[in-house]
Amino acid sequence: MKIAVLGTGYVGLSTGVCLSEIGHQVTCIDIDDQKISRLQQGISPIYEPGLETLLVKNTGAGRLIFTTSHKDGVEGAEIIIIAVGTPQRPDGGADLSYLEQAAKDISGHIEKGTIVVIKSTVPVGTNEYIKKIIEEKCNKEVMMVSNPEFLRQGSAIHDTMNADRIIIGFENKEAAEKVQEMYRPLQVPVIFTGFRSSEMIKYASNAFLATKISFINEIANLCEAVGADVEDVAKGMGKDKRIGEAFLQAGIGYGGSCFPKDVKALLHTAGRYGVNFSMLKETISINDFQKEVLVKKAIKRFGELKGKKIGILGLPFKPETDDMREAPSINIAQSLTNLGAEVVAYDPVGTEQAKKIIGDTIQYVSSVFDAVLGADALFIVTEWKEFTQLDLASLMKKMKYPIIFDGRNCLEEDRIRQCEKIEYYPIGKQSI
Ligand code: UGA
Repeated sequence: MKIAVLGTGYVGLSTGVCLSEIGHQVTCIDIDDQKISRLQQGISPIYEPGLETLLVKNTGAGRLIFTTSHKDGVEGAEIIIIAVGTPQRPDGGADLSYLEQAAKDISGHIEKGTIVVIKSTVPVGTNEYIKKIIEEKCNKEVMMVSNPEFLRQGSAIHDTMNADRIIIGFENKEAAEKVQEMYRPLQVPVIFTGFRSSEMIKYASNAFLATKISFINEIANLCEAVGADVEDVAKGMGKDKRIGEAFLQAGIGYGGSCFPKDVKALLHTAGRYGVNFSMLKETISINDFQKEVLVKKAIKRFGELKGKKIGILGLPFKPETDDMREAPSINIAQSLTNLGAEVVAYDPVGTEQAKKIIGDTIQYVSSVFDAVLGADALFIVTEWKEFTQLDLASLMKKMKYPIIFDGRNCLEEDRIRQCEKIEYYPIGKQSI
């Protein structure tokens, strides 16, 4: 099939690359000419495992093309997938301006029978709204399909190729079947719904997962108070199939470009319709609280942090990405510097992005060794594999005090116990 994808962010680029990999002829369109010219050279604008390999392979095979021209990309396409961003507005709602612009940009090139798919995360009612914009502009009936995306950053290619389900929200059966046909090589279960349910599935899924994380974080705080171990508790809970093991990892709160924004957007939608979705407010406030727990633990341990040197390991909101959006490290770095601590941070890939957000109030170094040298304490903020395999005994010798606050419970307790002098403060478990 000939497919056009609008927007080369995480979702658009991963989708475009994967659709070309399963044999479709894909053109990815973006208004950012620098991005497009790098993509044409096989350079990915984002750090995403496996993406660049498929990018180079499929560009080379002529199945994947990048352009800034809507005309070149859209004309002749059987399916146009819109995957532009829907950032958060100051009032918590989703900003649809990129989507509106995309609708206008494609409307001049739509032919009879072209299917327009919205993959961006959009509030309930948006597919109907965008359909109207395109139809008014092009003066034809447009076949819309709502097809939300569930891929995670850091495993975007794997998640796209091995999705749990594909949601197809439709009005027109022919359009729905064509989109199903596009995904057929992936052999993934398809669920057909109306537009509004499809849009809701996306927000409800993200809000549920965010709530699951906030729930286990509250349990973690309670575990610390009562002397239980949150990892054992999560394991015991997760074996119940109705609960499931995934997303029960306690830590320093969820971040990223999706959960924080989508929970707020769903709350905003509920407000607009007069529904008091108070549970979501708690999900958010627990998460805000959780971002501060490492700093609170450090204050409890040291009394005050003024003049203390703190080494931070990990900056992005999760491993395998350099994305700093809503990363707990931002709050942690700010709190520590506000309290007068000196912060030295190391991350394998996220430093450049972190500098843009956290700025020069903290120091950035290029190795774990430099981050721990002379430090009063070490904060583990992102659970990169590199950090789970550290030679703890020799690292601790470089620190002023061998104290670790592990915000992701990513160090093995047996290894900690082998190093006699370490003081170790995990989340939701007793300290060592
Ligand atoms: C999330 C969803 O998982 C995807 O299904 C969805 O498609 C995506 O948002 C989106 O809407 O585009 P993502 O934000 O990439 O994906 O990352 P996740 O792996 O879900 O992690 C989000 C945050 O939750 C991270 O900060 C992570 O550290 C935290 N987390 C996750 C926990 O604290 N505990 C867990 O058990 C799991």
